[in-house]
Order: sequence, then structure tokens, then C-alpha cells
Amino acid sequence: MLNKFLQKTEEQLVKNCDLYFYDDSQVNKAARYSLLNAGKRVRAMLIYLTAQMCGKDWEKYADLACGVEMIHCYSLIHDDLPCMDNDDLRRGKPSCHKAFSEDTALLAGDALIGCGIEAVANSDCFSVADRLKAVQLMCAAMGPKGMIYGQELDLKYEKETADKEQLALIHRNKTGQLISLCGRLGSLGAELTEGQKKAIEVFFANTGLVFQIVDDILDVESSEEELGKPIGSDAENGKSTFITLYGLDESKRKVEELTKEANELLYTEFGEKAEYIIDYTSKLAHRRK
Ligand code: IPE
Ligand code: IPE
Ligand code: MG
Ligand code: MG
Ligand code: MG
Repeated sequence: MLNKFLQKTEEQLVKNCDLYFYDDSQVNKAARYSLLNAGKRVRAMLIYLTAQMCGKDWEKYADLACGVEMIHCYSLIHDDLPCMDNDDLRRGKPSCHKAFSEDTALLAGDALIGCGIEAVANSDCFSVADRLKAVQLMCAAMGPKGMIYGQELDLKYEKETADKEQLALIHRNKTGQLISLCGRLGSLGAELTEGQKKAIEVFFANTGLVFQIVDDILDVESSEEELGKPIGSDAENGKSTFITLYGLDESKRKVEELTKEANELLYTEFGEKAEYIIDYTSKLAHRRK
């Protein structure tokens, strides 16, 4: 099933590239280069799995899922720029600003923002009213009270050391907001009990936090070949991460604890319908890339 989800996502991303980045400009080439390069498509998967859990037809969610992947891709292009994390490798290939130029990468990221929002606005899984709601939710999650805020804090705490609360705030925003968005969009318009809505919120909050803790762990423990991006980048930039504050063992314990709590809660509210998504996020918690 995951293969089907992945294949659908890749097909839709190519369609989106043909739709939005069709001419031969350098910026369009750079956007295509970064978007079609092999990402894990975690955010798309989470949207399909949530929609499926809520009894929806997942195939209708491809536009929406790819819109969110486009926003994620923009965030990675900008995250790698010399003024940010200054990383030269992404998804196993030269980062956008290395394959093209810094100005082109900046603009390709900008282009992906507009087109990602357009893709969500066009997504035919929702009524027009819910499309508007979806765009609002996405703009809030990626904006200055969401992902951008997290990125700002992430850079701020290169110069000063964050405490545990500040670190949680960074991670909740820079990574958690877009992951939580997937839960909100995948369940938008579904008829759910209050308990189920709450369970989705908590499940995704934990999943987002776990996702970034594992990203921090892999920056220390993985290899460049396996990860497809530089290792040791966080230490080189003097970042405050889960490893610097908690150490590796405690970080791994936190991953297990948060995953268990999330899974139990979701299973209590959704029963067997939650099995696929629980299986997927449990694998993500133990991923090697
Ligand atoms: C990396 O995201 C950046 C974070 C928010 C941790 P992913 O690990 O999902 O990257 P891709 O999309 O698979 O390249
Ligand atoms: C990236 O966090 C978060 C966003 C892009 C919003 P990281 O800087 O840790 O991601 P990687 O490790 O470069 O993928
Ligand atoms: Mg970063
Ligand atoms: Mg980075
Ligand atoms: Mg990282």
C-alpha cells in the first residue's frame, strides 16, 4: 500500500512540475530538480494514511499531499543556503544552490511556496469551503507563528544555548508544525468525535517531535551515503539539538516513550483503522535515513 501511495505521489509531482514549472527558466529547472529528487515523501504519506483512517478515499488527496511536499521542499532549499545551515548535499545530490546558484535557489524556493499553496487550493478532495480552510491551515503552519518561527529560533540558538523548553519550542515549530498540518488536512471534513480529534492532535505532535529527534540522532550516527545529506552539520553550526541537551541514550529513550504514547492513544480512539498509520510512524521512529 505504501508503494501505491509513493507511486501516486511521484506521478502527481511530475504533473505539478509540468503544470507549474513548464518553461525553460533556470528557476523552474531548479524547482524541478529539487522537487523530483528522491525525498521520503513523509508528509504526503501521513496525509494519505490519516485520510484513510478517517474513512476517506486516499487517491483524491494527491494534489493536497503534493502541495504540502512542495512547501516542505522549499523549506529544505532555503534551509541549505549558506546563510542558513550551509549544507551542500541534499537527497544524495548537490543542494539546489550548488547545482544552480544561490540566487536561483532562493527564487526556486519562493516559486515552490506560491505553487504549493495553489496546489492545495486546487485540491479536489474538499468542498470549496474546506479548500479555503486547508489553505488557511497550511499558511498558518508554515508562517511566522509556525515553521518560519522555528527556523528563526533554530538559528538564534546557534549563538546561545537553548534550554529544554526552548529546544522543544524550536522543534515543535520548525518541524512539528508541518507534520501536525498533515493530521489536520488528512482529517479535515471527517466526522470525528472530540476524543478522536484530540487523539490526532496528540499523535501528530508526538510524531513531529520524534521525527526531529531522530533527524538530530542521524546527524550524529548515520553516514553521508546512507542519509543523502551531510552528517555532523548540527555540531559544525553549533546548533542546540536533542543530542547536545539530552545525549544520545536519553534521546533514544524519548523517541520510544513518545511513540508508544502516541500509538496507544490513537489506537484507543480509532482501533484497527489506526493500524496502518501506527505501523508507518513506528517505522519512521526507527528509520536510518
Ligand atoms: C528533513 O525532512 C528536514 C526535517 C524537517 C527534519 P525529511 O527527512 O522528511 O527529508 P526528505 O523529504 O526525506 O528529503
Ligand atoms: C530543517 O531542520 C527544518 C526545516 C527545513 C524547516 P534541519 O536543518 O535539521 O533539517 P536537515 O537536517 O538539514 O534536513
Ligand atoms: Mg536547519
Ligand atoms: Mg539543515
Ligand atoms: Mg537536521
